[in-house]
Amino acid sequence: MPLLRPEGAWRGVVEEYRAYLSLPAGAPAISLREGNTPLVPALRAGRGADLYFKIEGQNPTGSFKDRGMAVAVSGALAEDARFLVCASTGNTSAAAAAYAARAGLPALLAVPAGDGAVARGKLAQALAFGARLVLVHGNFDQALAAVRALAALRPDAALVNSVNPLRLEGQKTGAFELIEQLGQAPDWLCIPVGNAGNISAYWRGFCEYRQAGRCRGVPRLIGAQAAGAAPLVSGTFVDNPQTLASAIRIGRPASAHLAQAAVAEADGRFVAVEDAEILAAYRFLARQEGIFCEPASAAALAGFWAARAAGWIGDGQRVVCVLTGNGLKDPERAVAESDPPMEAEATAEALARTLPPELRI
Ligand SMILES: Cc1ncc(COP(=O)(O)O)c(C=O)c1O
Repeated sequence: MPLLRPEGAWRGVVEEYRAYLSLPAGAPAISLREGNTPLVPALRAGRGADLYFKIEGQNPTGSFKDRGMAVAVSGALAEDARFLVCASTGNTSAAAAAYAARAGLPALLAVPAGDGAVARGKLAQALAFGARLVLVHGNFDQALAAVRALAALRPDAALVNSVNPLRLEGQKTGAFELIEQLGQAPDWLCIPVGNAGNISAYWRGFCEYRQAGRCRGVPRLIGAQAAGAAPLVSGTFVDNPQTLASAIRIGRPASAHLAQAAVAEADGRFVAVEDAEILAAYRFLARQEGIFCEPASAAALAGFWAARAAGWIGDGQRVVCVLTGNGLKDPERAVAESDPPMEAEATAEALARTLPPELRI
């Protein structure tokens, strides 16, 4: 499935969709040409459905957060903010750091401290972009409470978490693109859920395009949560969320109310997927589809498989899984899930011996 436009003709989500965004009039467009991500048909993962992957890992910092950050930072400049602040499980901080650099603003990023709390690629991005990275003694939910309190004290700060309405405005453009790429809305959208902003944003995007006459129907939604961090499945907040998918290790989703309303209106479901199911989907995507995403993103495919197994999604229905982040974000997980490399002398014979048995002569 092609991009919407050739690379050179794409101006980024603020310019492409300004008419649909509630940005202050005259806001500048801070852009790294985010959006315009490919929609790739599944070859082997579809299990009888007509399945596609929206590859959000091809955004400039490797996740969907760039869509929302472009709009939030454009809005922050229009409102004369002097610095950006956010809490993050990693991807928001990478995007905030990049767009802060682009806008010429300092950024203060609060991420949970501790081994494995944030994938290393994301930490590397935040540091490389020159942001002030703070390892907070607490989990994501506590870090978010702290930055919200700081932003309340500092009117010169722009809080760029998804509680900032401009973040969702930007992220709804993913839904616009899907409709343009497919020519209509899919039957189902499967999407991982952490802080619950993105699923809410997609729903808003679908509804607005239907309202604008750009599509007739809207999809049903599957919100996939990791079983150890699944407050929207259980209906109660989780104080100590646990999952290897660190991006969605969130127990108190700030946009829970929006996501619940969206899933109810969409006649959809939240589904909990075990870490083992997430890893199975992660490996399948890489090895059978050639798509390297991060574990949290693979939860979308695990959620799709669970929904297919439960019979919610019928044969031949058109489904899009949003693969939210790039696999390179979490190199340690990729190495842990793979066989170690082999070693050989630098000769043809030695290399030939490393081929699998069926290819040896
Ligand atoms: C890769 C990835 N997927 C999914 C999510 C979940 O998105 P949301 O927090 O908007 O529910 C996140 C959030 O950080 C993420 O980084």
